[in-house]
Amino acid sequence: MNKRDTFSTGLGFVLAAAGSAVGLGNIWRFPYLVAKYGGGLFLVFYILLVLTFGYTLMVAENAIGRKTGKSALCAFGELSKKWAFLGIIATIIPMIIQPYYNVIGGWVIKYALTFVTGGHSAAAGDNFFNEMLASPRQQLLFQFIFSAVTTIVILRGVQKGVEKFSTVLMPMLILLAIIVAIYSVTLPGATIGLRYLFIPDFSHFSVAGILGALGQMFYSLSLAMGIMVAYGSYLPKNSDLEKNVSRIEIFDTGIALLASLMIIPAVFAFSGGDETALGAGPGLMFVTLPKVFESMGMSTVIGSVFFILVLLAALTSSISIMEAIVSSLCDKFGWDRKKTTIGAGIGSFLVGIPPILGYSTWSGVTIGGMSILDMMDFITNSVLMPILALLTCIFIAYVIGVSVIHKEVEQSSAFKRKKLFDVMIKYIAPVFIVAILVSSILSALGVIQF
Ligand code: PHE
Repeated sequence: MNKRDTFSTGLGFVLAAAGSAVGLGNIWRFPYLVAKYGGGLFLVFYILLVLTFGYTLMVAENAIGRKTGKSALCAFGELSKKWAFLGIIATIIPMIIQPYYNVIGGWVIKYALTFVTGGHSAAAGDNFFNEMLASPRQQLLFQFIFSAVTTIVILRGVQKGVEKFSTVLMPMLILLAIIVAIYSVTLPGATIGLRYLFIPDFSHFSVAGILGALGQMFYSLSLAMGIMVAYGSYLPKNSDLEKNVSRIEIFDTGIALLASLMIIPAVFAFSGGDETALGAGPGLMFVTLPKVFESMGMSTVIGSVFFILVLLAALTSSISIMEAIVSSLCDKFGWDRKKTTIGAGIGSFLVGIPPILGYSTWSGVTIGGMSILDMMDFITNSVLMPILALLTCIFIAYVIGVSVIHKEVEQSSAFKRKKLFDVMIKYIAPVFIVAILVSSILSALGVIQF
């Protein structure tokens, strides 16, 4: 029953892993964090984190998956019984992310439909986004569709759905994003945005920003939630792990940058240089891009194609989230894959209801100004994922030993950045995470009022 697919080629793996990595995290989440946390400085931190920490963790997770041939829930336990709980945390995280990811996927469906049916001027209006949030029924419907499609793709097997999209449509998405980005950066007034994006300004420094960059790095690369462990378990023994990881990182970061180039200069151009729009949060992409499309002309075509491609990119990511949940549960409990998938689909739909209501009926439920969706995002990205990453580093460095990872990587090629890997995983990464977590808790205690 639970026969394991493997990717036919290293390239297939890269594409599927990139399909998981590239999604709403790059296009929706990254630009609003860059905008919120100070532009250039955030970008510098982010890139540094990807190259050091992200690299290390991705190599480690892929190696653990490939070595054990298991998904997260079992893989950690197989290496050490006592540390099996890491697998449990790694399975709980995607269970929290999936439902709110579906909600945002639902927003993308709504925008795609609006553009396809010629509603571009409405979508570019100031209240369109908020009106959508105020309507739980609509959101429920679109969230349901998004969850259902994800479930159906998983039912058909990993390879068919994911590989196909990644080879054909991903390049189209990139091309369109390049066109829109070029347009955006040449808008009158866009240079202030470019400066904001690329010139670090140290007065914008904040611990929350660094924690944000760390969380985004995990989120965007699909790390610290068992996904790369699961994908590693599908990776053929002869495929060069390090090279694959570098490619995924370049790809993922490139698309996040492109998305920022589409959105941030436009924010400045349309607000006449007023920076308050930068704090818009989760709505930033949905509010800004329709305005860009509207001013480009041909907005029905551009808007429709763009949101459809984003929708597909979001689907490949949500497929990977659900795949991590389902394969973990099946490996662990020997459950039937079909039934587990359907259960996971229904579960994620139901858990997605509170974040939707959080924008209307339950708008009173907030902590420190965060809506329910923001809270789910915060708990996973800024709390659980850093903790899991910390424990994973400790586990590898001090429990099983780095040589286990060395050996696995060296099965397919020389381990070129072995030194970097060792220093990161033994010292820098754990110390850095502890420092960031502690200081952000301290500052939160001073700031957040319950
Ligand atoms: N990495 C994906 C993105 O950037 C999202 C994702 C998050 C995928 C969590 C899997 C798990 O959109």
